[in-house]
Amino acid sequence: MTTQIRIGPYTLTPLRPGMPILTLAPMAGIGNWPFRLVCARMGARMVGVEFINCNAILHHNWKTEMMMNFCDADIYRDTGMSVLAAQIYGNDIGRMVEGAQVLEERGAQIMDINFGCSVPKILKSESGAAFLKDIDRMMDAVRRVTEGVSIPVILKTRLGWDRENMSILEVVRQARDAGAHAVAIHARTVAQKFNGTADWSWIARARETSTVPIFGNGDVFTYPDAVRMARETGCDGVMIARAALEQPWVFSGDWHPTFIERIGLAKDHLAMMTEYKGERVGVMEMRKFFASYFKGFPNASHLRGSLVRVETTEQVHGILDEWAGRASEMGEAEPMTVETVDGSPDLACTEEYVSS
Ligand SMILES: Cc1cc2nc3c(=O)[nH]c(=O)nc-3n(C[C@H](O)[C@H](O)[C@H](O)COP(=O)(O)O)c2cc1C
Repeated sequence: MTTQIRIGPYTLTPLRPGMPILTLAPMAGIGNWPFRLVCARMGARMVGVEFINCNAILHHNWKTEMMMNFCDADIYRDTGMSVLAAQIYGNDIGRMVEGAQVLEERGAQIMDINFGCSVPKILKSESGAAFLKDIDRMMDAVRRVTEGVSIPVILKTRLGWDRENMSILEVVRQARDAGAHAVAIHARTVAQKFNGTADWSWIARARETSTVPIFGNGDVFTYPDAVRMARETGCDGVMIARAALEQPWVFSGDWHPTFIERIGLAKDHLAMMTEYKGERVGVMEMRKFFASYFKGFPNASHLRGSLVRVETTEQVHGILDEWAGRASEMGEAEPMTVETVDGSPDLACTEEYVSS
C-alpha cells in the first residue's frame, strides 16, 4: 500500500497507517464546498471540484462564480487535512490556460484537466474525453496549462476511445514529459460511458509503466473495494465518486455511523449547504443526501419519505429530532449498495452526467 503521494508541494498520506490513500473524484453538480468539506473531514485526502468550463469562467456568470467558491481550501491549507483540485474543461487550449489561471487565483491548490467526460454534448464540442482521439492535442493542453499556472497539474481520463483504441498506456508514458504530476484513470472506455464494469487490470498496467502517481477510479463502492483496488492494481491513490455520494464516510475506512451519528452528519451538511446556497435551495439540494444518509435502515422509509418534502431547516430539524427519539427502532444499517448505472441508479443527480 502506498504510504505517500507527492504532487508538487503536497504530500498525500493515508488517513491511518495501512489504509489506501482515498480521494474524492470530481462530480458535476455535487462537488461544491460543503460536500468537499464533508468528505475531507471523513478522510478524503484530495477533493475534486465539479468540472468548470473555461469559457464560462471567462464570461463571469454567477453560476460559475458559485462553483469557484473554494473557501474550503483555506481550511485545507491551515490543517493539511486535504487538498483542493479544481477541474477545468474546454476545447480551446488557450482558453483552458486562461481559465486555469483564474482557478489558481481563486485558491485552487491543484489543477485537474478533464479528459474523461463522455457526455455527448461535451464530446461533440471536442472537449473532455474527445482529447483521447488525439494524444498530441491532449499533451499540448497539459503542457500549456502546466506552463500557464504555478500549481501542479494532474489529468483525469479514461482507458481509451473504445476496446480497439486503448490509449491509456500512451497517455501515462507521455504525461510526465508534458508536465503532469499525476494521472487519474476511470477504468472504462469512452464508448462504455458508465456501462459494463471498470477494468482495473489497465490501472495495474498503467501503474507498472508510469513515472507519475496513478489514481485508480471506477466501481469502488465500498471501503473493502478501495483496499482491493489498491492491492490488485498497485495504484497510488483510490479516487471515489458515486460511493461518496451515497456514504461520504467511505473515506474513513471501516467506520459505519450509527443512526444518531448520521443525524449529526446530516445536520452539519445541511448547515453548510444553506450557508452556501441559501435556505430554500440549500434544503432542496439536501433532499437527495438525506435519502442516502438514512438508506439501509430497515425502518427508515417513513423518515426518508418525509425528508424528501422538507422546505426549511426548522422542518428538517423537527423531523430529525423526533426520529432521534426513536433511534432504538432503527437497528443496524444494511451494508451499502450502490447501483451501477447499468442497474438503474437511484440518484437522480447522477443521471445528468452519466446517462445522456
Ligand atoms: C454525478 C456525477 C458527476 C460527475 N462529474 C464529473 C466531473 O465533473 N468531472 C469528471 O472528471 N468526472 C465526473 N464524473 C465521473 C467520476 O468522477 C468518476 O470518474 C466516475 O463516476 C467513476 O467513479 P465511481 O465508480 O467511483 O463513481 C461524474 C460522475 C458522476 C456520477
